Amino acid sequence: MRMLSAVQIPSLTKATQPLSVQLGPIRLSSPAVLAPMAGYTDSAMRRLCRRFGAGMVFSEMLSGEGTRRNNEKTFKMASFSEEERPVFIQFFATNPQQASDAARVLSQLEPDGLDLNFGCPVKKIILACGGSALLKDVSLLARIVEAAVKATHVPVSVKIRSGWDIRSLNAVPVARAVEEAGAAWVTVHARTRSEFFQGLAHWEWIGEVKSAVSIPVIGNGDVRTASDAVQLLNSTGCDAVMIGRGAMGYPFIFREVNSLLLHGDAGAAPTPMERCECATEQLKCMVERVGESRGVKEFRKHLLAYVRGLQNSARFKNEVVQYLTVNEVTDSMNRYFSSLPDVPTPRPESAFEQAPLYE
Ligand SMILES: Cc1cc2nc3c(=O)[nH]c(=O)nc-3n(C[C@H](O)[C@H](O)[C@H](O)COP(=O)(O)O)c2cc1C
Repeated sequence: MRMLSAVQIPSLTKATQPLSVQLGPIRLSSPAVLAPMAGYTDSAMRRLCRRFGAGMVFSEMLSGEGTRRNNEKTFKMASFSEEERPVFIQFFATNPQQASDAARVLSQLEPDGLDLNFGCPVKKIILACGGSALLKDVSLLARIVEAAVKATHVPVSVKIRSGWDIRSLNAVPVARAVEEAGAAWVTVHARTRSEFFQGLAHWEWIGEVKSAVSIPVIGNGDVRTASDAVQLLNSTGCDAVMIGRGAMGYPFIFREVNSLLLHGDAGAAPTPMERCECATEQLKCMVERVGESRGVKEFRKHLLAYVRGLQNSARFKNEVVQYLTVNEVTDSMNRYFSSLPDVPTPRPESAFEQAPLYE
């Protein structure tokens, strides 16, 4: 068995500075940002992605109602470490009063900003008239944004899909309305609610929004590789790209995007041992925050993402999910990763295709 070298997770380096981009009032060290992903983008994942060069990170989506009621669980989910900055806390609200109350409460945590979700396609949220349901009522959506903007001293951004369905594409009027309402920028996931995650994201819809508004636009949807990120930036003129599933178990994608932008080459893919070191660090961060028992349990889905599509991963997965302690999990990871050829191993396409959607 090969010995593990000391963990070599990069720190934020000066090398990323030439990539910096101004997004409204926020200066980013890179135009590649980590998407909000419920059940995934906890503090540990956000920290790792920042260390690998993500320009900024977003929390998982919180409930505006839970927040205004000072729900303890919501607050734990909203907490972040200084290392994550710039970090935006995302929430959804179904009416202006809720948005205003939640924005006021969340601002007390002093995030770099707040992000309002109008893209969530999940039935439970739609039935509560939240998330992408609001794309059907642009006037209410704009009043929600305005209420949040008025209630806080931090910037408020907005994340949308391109419409409810293909017959009601309205990303352009929605983006104009949120610009008018004071949003710092708009992120466009270039799919409709009806499309959920099917088919390919329609990047041309991002370009249409970019041409229609003066606030910055973040493009999102199906960035699987560094070259996808650069293509999305170049083909639409968007100010930044948001990466979700492409970063699950692969924070290296941010290093690759930055390298491609800076040097015209994405650089070497991580070796299996680099993946092992990175996954070990993520586990450590999670356990530090929530304790061993919960940390190990919650880490499993991340670990599965680190090995999805790699050689002999099925046997490893069956084994590792049984372990309950950090030592057992790290021993098992060391055995597995050191059994793989010690060469840079790009992320298999299947890892993106098989990424879990909402929990
Ligand atoms: C597991 C999972 C959870 C998600 N949770 C959220 C969320 O909490 N808030 C949000 O705005 N989008 C959420 N999304 C959508 C992503 O932010 C992103 O818009 C979408 O995955 C498309 O980007 P991608 O192709 O890079 O993954 C989630 C997506 C996934 C796969």
